[in-house]
Amino acid sequence: MKIAIIGAGEMGSALARDLAEAGHPVTIGSRDADRAQAIAGRVGAASGGGYEQAAAASEVVVLTVPWQAVRQIVPGLPLDGKILIDATNPYLDDSFDGRESVWSVREEFPAGESGASVIQALAPGASVVKAFNHIWAVTAQRGFGETRPAVFVCGDDASARTVVMGLAADIGYDPHDAGGLERARWLEALTPLVVALEDPNVALTVEHVPPR
Ligand SMILES: NC(=O)c1ccc[n+]([C@@H]2O[C@H](COP(=O)([O-])OP(=O)(O)OC[C@H]3O[C@@H](n4cnc5c(N)ncnc54)[C@H](OP(=O)(O)O)[C@@H]3O)[C@@H](O)[C@H]2O)c1
Repeated sequence: MKIAIIGAGEMGSALARDLAEAGHPVTIGSRDADRAQAIAGRVGAASGGGYEQAAAASEVVVLTVPWQAVRQIVPGLPLDGKILIDATNPYLDDSFDGRESVWSVREEFPAGESGASVIQALAPGASVVKAFNHIWAVTAQRGFGETRPAVFVCGDDASARTVVMGLAADIGYDPHDAGGLERARWLEALTPLVVALEDPNVALTVEHVPPR
């Protein structure tokens, strides 16, 4: 699958490397096209370019920019008919200094709304799927040995969820269908816990217990 990464930072580079290693043609999108090409070479991605160019060339677009940049960047991307994976977290301050303050900087949304629903409204022609937001980039980059960390996936388009679960499985995760996009609110609430633990060696896993 042709995949674009929008935002070539820590998380974008880690996902790009993983997806490229799994055999997907990945285009890195950066505000600086030269930087995108350099990072593409480093992580084994097929190519690099500007945000718009990367999104236009791909079927699946992965958003890995800071929350503060989302409202400015998303409306300018050609996303109609594409799957938009939202890996962002709606923090007003991305300094991530851990512990209690993580909660105090989270953007508040009305009931049922989330960062992902804001993104869906900014890109009405795309199928937004929330995924990977609660994974540490450093863990994604170095792998997890025998463990397959859980990745929860939610979005209103069931076929898009299936595609994203397939991509998550391709790169070593244990994907779980978390339902419609209204659940993104809870996936976004999971990240402060993961961050507060301050331990990228912790991976969430899910076991199915047989019914009694
Ligand atoms: N790091 C993690 O462990 C992790 C894990 C899960 C989810 N996330 C989420 O992924 C997103 C990116 O996090 P990150 O840790 O990868 O951040 P990062 O290393 O700072 O990278 C973010 C990238 O976004 C691009 N960008 C676009 N507009 C920007 C702006 N106004 N200011 C700064 N950067 C801008 C930049 O790439 P270009 O210059 O190439 O355009 C930058 O390198 C966040 O929403 C975060 O919550 C991060």
